[in-house]
Amino acid sequence: MPAIFQTIYQELCQTLFRQSGFIAAVEPFLRKLIPAHRAGLYRARILSITPQAGCLRLRLKVSRLFPAFVAGQHLQLFVELNGRLLERTFSICSDVQRLSEQHELELAVQIQPQGRFTGALPGTLRPGMYVHLSRPVGDFCFMSQQPACLIGAGSGVTPLFSMLSSISRLTQPLTFIYSFRGKERLLFAAEWAALQAKFPLLQLVLWDSARQGRLTPERLLGELQPDLQAHFYLCGPRQFTADFSRALLNTGVAEAAIRSESFGVIAPSAGETQPVSLQLGQHSYPLGGHGSLLQRAEQTGVTVPYGCRRGVCMQCLCEKTSGVVRNLLTGELSDAGPGRIQLCISEAVSPVKVQSVEISA
Ligand code: FES
Repeated sequence: MPAIFQTIYQELCQTLFRQSGFIAAVEPFLRKLIPAHRAGLYRARILSITPQAGCLRLRLKVSRLFPAFVAGQHLQLFVELNGRLLERTFSICSDVQRLSEQHELELAVQIQPQGRFTGALPGTLRPGMYVHLSRPVGDFCFMSQQPACLIGAGSGVTPLFSMLSSISRLTQPLTFIYSFRGKERLLFAAEWAALQAKFPLLQLVLWDSARQGRLTPERLLGELQPDLQAHFYLCGPRQFTADFSRALLNTGVAEAAIRSESFGVIAPSAGETQPVSLQLGQHSYPLGGHGSLLQRAEQTGVTVPYGCRRGVCMQCLCEKTSGVVRNLLTGELSDAGPGRIQLCISEAVSPVKVQSVEISA
């Protein structure tokens, strides 16, 4: 929608409903009529829950309306816990055919026993229950058949597994390196042999770091000697992908031939909550709650656009007019002046004023 119409629309909704959009205004009534309704989300029924390698593998049945995804993409899983709808982002680990043919997909949710969300899932989720999903998003995708090297560490293997198992016929050599710590942490343990048998051109390296030592860029280049003409797909903790990307670039691999996805957002600090004012149209909202600015907007009942919730899609981009925020991906602090920030990965570390981008356009 052009910016001028967007602004008029927001103004109208603010004036009529005291909300930033029509959907936000009617949502409470819809929820009364249909308690399971969640605007913009898709319902999914849990078919099975399989604990494996410190994860819960959730097999989910989705409706025919659920959009197609590209292998490597991620989505948000929403679960109601203690009366509150909480969400986290997970990569889809099943293949694309399973969704199109059986309307099923699978997530491997790594359980953090102390985590507010994943720590509560083992005691909450049951087969037959419904959860909600966002649409799949993200541009960490397997592009085409070409010599490729996929390198994953820990639960970073999940999008790569989806990429590999979505290939129907391998026509180019593909190296798949999965680093995990100990046999009990090996995800998809039952599937690797079948994939190896299906793809003669697959060079599969299951690297047990408990037995073989940590997989470092030096050991990758020295011992495994991947084809440096290949396209590289890296997924794992932030430091892992940064180290491997740097090492590959230093050996002459083109930047365009390296795609990576990292996880591990810095936890918002537990200290004093800073005042935040969010301006939408002519209305200014003081944000309560805690966490990222997006979480605080939601906890206050203010609806703002968002997509991935992990700093990728830019849908939550806003204009910071003053104040200092911390980037929850990198830990960096902004300066105190104006600048564009993403609400989902920004935490206020001083009093902050933010406004939607359309207003300043
Ligand atoms: S919601 Fe995607 S960048 Fe913030």
